Amino acid sequence: MAVERTFSIIKPDATRRNLTGKINARFEEKGLRIVAQRRIWMSQQQAETFYGVHKERPFFKDLCKFMTSGPVVVQVLEGEGAVAKNREIMGATNPANAAAGTIRKDFAESIEANSVHGSDSPENAAIEIAFFFAGCEIVG
Ligand code: PPS
Repeated sequence: MAVERTFSIIKPDATRRNLTGKINARFEEKGLRIVAQRRIWMSQQQAETFYGVHKERPFFKDLCKFMTSGPVVVQVLEGEGAVAKNREIMGATNPANAAAGTIRKDFAESIEANSVHGSDSPENAAIEIAFFFAGCEIVG
């Protein structure tokens, strides 16, 4: 399988509970390398642009409000099949449906406060990575 990169966010519910290290350990234990990472407080404009694809969905306003409610950690993960592997490590969007041993099953509070975001395709990963990182900030 090819080595690829995916984009990840550790969300405000997780940074608030000091779970950054525990979540990063999940990635590293499963063979993903954190090749870029920054702790930021997302602006309203950044959230609305980043989640623009969901702007017609009923939860859009709540999602943007939540994502700007506290610090997040934006990161680039690298490894074989990184996009699919990260989605497996994260578990289903709704923690009620997430498999045992996944980040969302173990840490998420709700479908909104679900601890992590991960790109859903290599194409979107490239777009999302470029939204937050310059090439020189990613060190593989
Ligand atoms: S997916 O897998 O991205 O297609 O999941 P999807 O169900 O489409 O959800 C997209 C993002 O919206 C968040 N979400 C919600 N936020 C607040 N309230 C409700 N009800 C809700 N439903 C979904 C979900 O956590 C996804 O966030 P990201 O950051 O993309 O994972």
